[in-house]
Amino acid sequence: MCGIVGYIGYRPAAEVLVDGLRRLEYRGYDSAGVACTNNIRLEVAKSAGRLDNLVKELAKRPLEGQSGIAHTRWATHGAPTDINAHPHTDCTGTIGVVHNGIIENYLELKAWLIEKGHKFSSETDSEILAHLIEEFAVSSVGGGSGDAHGARLYKALTKALSVVSGSYALVVLDQHQPDLLLAARQDSPLIIGLGEGENFLASDMPAIIKYTRRMMVLEDGDVAVVGREKVMVQKLDGLPVERHLFIVDWDPGRTEKEGYDHFMLKEIHEQPAALRAALAGRVGFDTGGKHLPKLEQVLPASVAAACREAVFVAAGTAYHAGYLGREWWRRWTDLPVQAELASEFRYHHPHLDRHSLVVIVSQSGETADTLAALREAKRRGAVTLAVTNVVGSSVAREADYVLYTQAGPEIAVASTKAYTSQLACLALTGIYIASTRGEMDQNRAAALLGELLALNGVMREMIPRLEPEVREVAVEWGRTADVYYIGRGLDYPLAMEGQLKLKEISYIHAEALAAGELKHGTLALITEGTPVVALATQPQLFDKMVSNIKEVKARGAEVLLLTGENNRHRPLVDVADKVIYLPEVDPDLMPIIAAVPLQLLAYYAAVNRGCDVDHPRNLAKSVTVE
Ligand code: F6R
Repeated sequence: MCGIVGYIGYRPAAEVLVDGLRRLEYRGYDSAGVACTNNIRLEVAKSAGRLDNLVKELAKRPLEGQSGIAHTRWATHGAPTDINAHPHTDCTGTIGVVHNGIIENYLELKAWLIEKGHKFSSETDSEILAHLIEEFAVSSVGGGSGDAHGARLYKALTKALSVVSGSYALVVLDQHQPDLLLAARQDSPLIIGLGEGENFLASDMPAIIKYTRRMMVLEDGDVAVVGREKVMVQKLDGLPVERHLFIVDWDPGRTEKEGYDHFMLKEIHEQPAALRAALAGRVGFDTGGKHLPKLEQVLPASVAAACREAVFVAAGTAYHAGYLGREWWRRWTDLPVQAELASEFRYHHPHLDRHSLVVIVSQSGETADTLAALREAKRRGAVTLAVTNVVGSSVAREADYVLYTQAGPEIAVASTKAYTSQLACLALTGIYIASTRGEMDQNRAAALLGELLALNGVMREMIPRLEPEVREVAVEWGRTADVYYIGRGLDYPLAMEGQLKLKEISYIHAEALAAGELKHGTLALITEGTPVVALATQPQLFDKMVSNIKEVKARGAEVLLLTGENNRHRPLVDVADKVIYLPEVDPDLMPIIAAVPLQLLAYYAAVNRGCDVDHPRNLAKSVTVE
């Protein structure tokens, strides 16, 4: 949660910083702020509300200087006000700090600092960092200017970090030291972008990719001294460390809307390309020309063979992907397979051992609940596989094995292309494990892989064809208060994802039900005109779904049915009010295709209601608090 940007170089810092914040707004957007120093003083501008408020503030009172720090906030401690916005400063107003994370012992540290005479302006936990650095800088021996002052500041920061507990990614700017920024990380992401005569810090790559593709990911316990020409990374105890430098190969244009009204719509349309990328280089041929999964580099065959159970662990949309993964793996392998919510995983006392494969699914690779579950799984001796989109993310670094979804940057808060890419990766891994263990017939594996590879073409043809139809339905939902999504088998996790998409961006209440469960209670809520989205992509369950649809129709529901083309010949006019026909692919893979109209439905319902689609209220893309 929250986005951080830091800059030191030769450009007007405030411009670089605001530009970076704009690309990090998905991480939080209830207030924003910037601090720059121009050798003479440290100036701060902050504003509650969206970034545009800060931009207006800066137009009235520009900040000078070629080094600075900035922050976009998602409130955890203290309301989203101007005062609580970052950067926070010490009592002298010369040390500025931006922080992402939570300082758990801030109340006791605050009381101690107040006793020492420090004056606080905000209700945040983060402000204590500025005061702690001030306190330890004043009390440390030595002093003077230039390098000596820099060393003292560094010492004060490391001392401050040694007394705080909790999580942080932070950047410190000192008026007396305009030639360096100090940064540190513990359980919150922070990357350094390396330029020529300039360097950058950010919570995520899109913030700085316009300026440099050379990136370095800080690890937990790292403290970095970032100058214009040089970057030095040490552990908290002073031990120097080398961090791997890598080149990001995205086109910076991929973090722009490129003519779409919203990132979400752009990302929905990017799904065919993302699906293709997810499978690129991961499917080969055997000597007979049949498709074969090529995942040995990611997950050794010995791990697949030794596995005695699998558990998917994830949150939100990624959990829905894991749930579908569970259904696939149960069908394709002989393994017992579970799917668990990351936030609940620890409380279930999971019985895991070295034969348990725990699959961690996370777009960002930084979700606090998911990361905690990964650590718990490792602590209990399980083998862990991360399926994530972000290279170098915490989950990717800590898991035993990593399968990157390769979907490219996902900016909209509502996940779309990351979800379908996760599905493609989980299907591929399931086929790989099942065929490695001899539990899936080679012909079936080859056929499924062939279909998986062809999905991108099917989706590319489907999106423009279905978009106008779906949009029409969404517009009809203008004043709708509740929508119910029902499905059986593989369509149930799909229903869960459909309802989440609708809720989070349109604020229409929605609920997903296993269609057979309806009559056990929720049917009482179906009245005249209640919209019900019925998912019937599974041929063997079609008739049962029709019975469930009739149950809701009999209570007056307005039914939108999503089903395969093969059902076009059936007389469905009496069954549903509107039918959307999906291209037919292997029934096991139909949910990947069917996810797209559900995303479009949510998108157009939200647009029609005037919602801020890319920035839904109260949400942030990367949830780095538990
Ligand atoms: C919903 C959505 C969230 C995320 C969840 C996990 O559209 O995006 O539900 O799926 O917060 O995030 P990651 O996948 O980054 O761990």
